[in-house]
Amino acid sequence: MDHKLIVANWKSHKTVEEGTAWFEELARHLSAIDFSQKTVVVCPSFTSIAMYVPLIANSKVPILLGAQNVSAFEEGSHTGEVSAHQIQELVDYVIIGHSERRVTQHETDHDIAEKVARAHACELKTIVCIQNADTPIPTGTDYVAYEPQGAIGTGHAATLSDIEHVAKSVKEKNTEVKFLYGGSVDENNVKEFMTSSLIDGLLIGTASLEAKQFASLLQQW
Ligand code: PGA
Repeated sequence: MDHKLIVANWKSHKTVEEGTAWFEELARHLSAIDFSQKTVVVCPSFTSIAMYVPLIANSKVPILLGAQNVSAFEEGSHTGEVSAHQIQELVDYVIIGHSERRVTQHETDHDIAEKVARAHACELKTIVCIQNADTPIPTGTDYVAYEPQGAIGTGHAATLSDIEHVAKSVKEKNTEVKFLYGGSVDENNVKEFMTSSLIDGLLIGTASLEAKQFASLLQQW
């Protein structure tokens, strides 16, 4: 089986204390997880990322960090924004254009392309969320995450045939881009998705919030 990328998206969950407890709990399950075929990335809120850098280094948990968003602007006078240059200091990956941001923050395809350009220039690995095969994929995208809105947080994941259909279409048009799926992935359906050669990894929200459940998901293959 090819190497896969598993990305945990914590959204606006977890204080520093809760996140620290999560890493401690995950560490207790490490021996049961085979990391040889997977890279695991956790994306916490900006408020806590800096705390987890030494925590991960000291505990030797084989996990990388990612951010859930990045500014469309370069470093400068942009109150409340977090630039790619700042993020680069702490993380390797960044999620861009999640549908929740497209809806609640009115992010446009143009904004998303700007964010990808900033992140790419700072050598962050970019994960661009798409809602269907027609969502534009900006230059500089490393991974797309296909996340149909109806599958996010609903307990109703997309079918494998639908995901593979979109994966084929995306990969035909963007030969360098890797393809992730996200939307109601849990420990019961993860194996089905992981065995598809068209799916290079997963973006996981709800099922990543409890360390024990996430560990159980990572143990499935
Ligand atoms: P979910 O969220 O796993 O809770 O469906 C996925 C996401 O929104 O990235």
